Amino acid sequence: MKRVLVFASASIALLCTAAGVELQNIEANARMLLAAARENAASGTTNLFPRTFVEGKVVFVDREDRCAGFFAGELWLLYELTGKDEWLAAAREWTEPLEPARNLSRTHDVGFILQTSFGNGLRLAGVDGYFDVLKDGAKALASRYSPRHGLIKSWDKWDTSPYTFPVIVDNMMNLELLCMAGALPTAVAHAKSVDRRHFRADGSVYHVLDYAADEPDIRGIYAGQGKSVDGAWARGQGWAVYGFTMMYRYSHDGVFLSRAVGMADWWLAHNRASDGVPPWDFADPFGPRDASAAAVVAAGLAELDHYSPNRGYRAEAERIVSTLASDAYLAKEGECGGFLLKHSTGNAPAGHEIDVPLIYADYYYLETLARLAK
Ligand code: GLY
Repeated sequence: MKRVLVFASASIALLCTAAGVELQNIEANARMLLAAARENAASGTTNLFPRTFVEGKVVFVDREDRCAGFFAGELWLLYELTGKDEWLAAAREWTEPLEPARNLSRTHDVGFILQTSFGNGLRLAGVDGYFDVLKDGAKALASRYSPRHGLIKSWDKWDTSPYTFPVIVDNMMNLELLCMAGALPTAVAHAKSVDRRHFRADGSVYHVLDYAADEPDIRGIYAGQGKSVDGAWARGQGWAVYGFTMMYRYSHDGVFLSRAVGMADWWLAHNRASDGVPPWDFADPFGPRDASAAAVVAAGLAELDHYSPNRGYRAEAERIVSTLASDAYLAKEGECGGFLLKHSTGNAPAGHEIDVPLIYADYYYLETLARLAK
């Protein structure tokens, strides 16, 4: 293993002070979640990875759950933010049990699972063998690509599925695995198709488009996790900001930068929440808030500001970080079983994970802190 990390500790300290973020509180909560995860693992369960906190209990999921990698990712980001060996060891401890996901080809979420864990491990610590896991995972993800559609199929059919060849905007996030592990052309092709076909005239993005099995004809547009087909699911808009910015980082293709800027400008124009944390869907302004959407978009804006400065992106990311550091959102030590942020919404139409902590909200919050310090 070689260390490839250059710590930005001084700037992180300054940033945290300016934004009112208490890293000590964050670390104390993370230690608590780590202890809970270890205790849970000792029971012999295969549901090892913390996802949310409901009715006083941490909910754990198995390694094929789309959220499985975020806990390891959180630990890697704590290593990045603090430089402490404690977090390096913990990050490896919770990354390596995910290794069998390198062959996971039945869902596009292999990207989320491996990039957040092994991807961050490679980026921050250059651990031997991690690139091979990412390469296999990229192969598994690329096996879902249809040249005829120019798209990766997001989900396989399940019993009650109305879809034939569904593609969801979240899939933009999974492309980073391809970009990191030698399959950039496939990622570019998918992102170009999404850029052409998945956006409304006003610049916002749909959640789910379904295509015909053998032809790139759109069979239907679905609300998915949004309020309605014509609404704008907040986290989906965030995935688009983040995903197209990330694609620009790897490809330097101006099409992706334009889309990221368009999406970010849409967000700034439509987010009327006085504290920066949007409702779960822009079409439900008084509905439950979604801190995860705020954290995802903040991470995207923090990066986009480097490519397209002076458009207010950094200021918005800083505003969100400060809001999320306030008592209204940041859990006091032990308040949420070790999760960091309150008030996220997972899947409102399904009545699932409403106004709860979510591991990916914590992940993107920490990633935003790390990005703002660069
Ligand atoms: N569909 C994944 C998400 O909730 O963002």
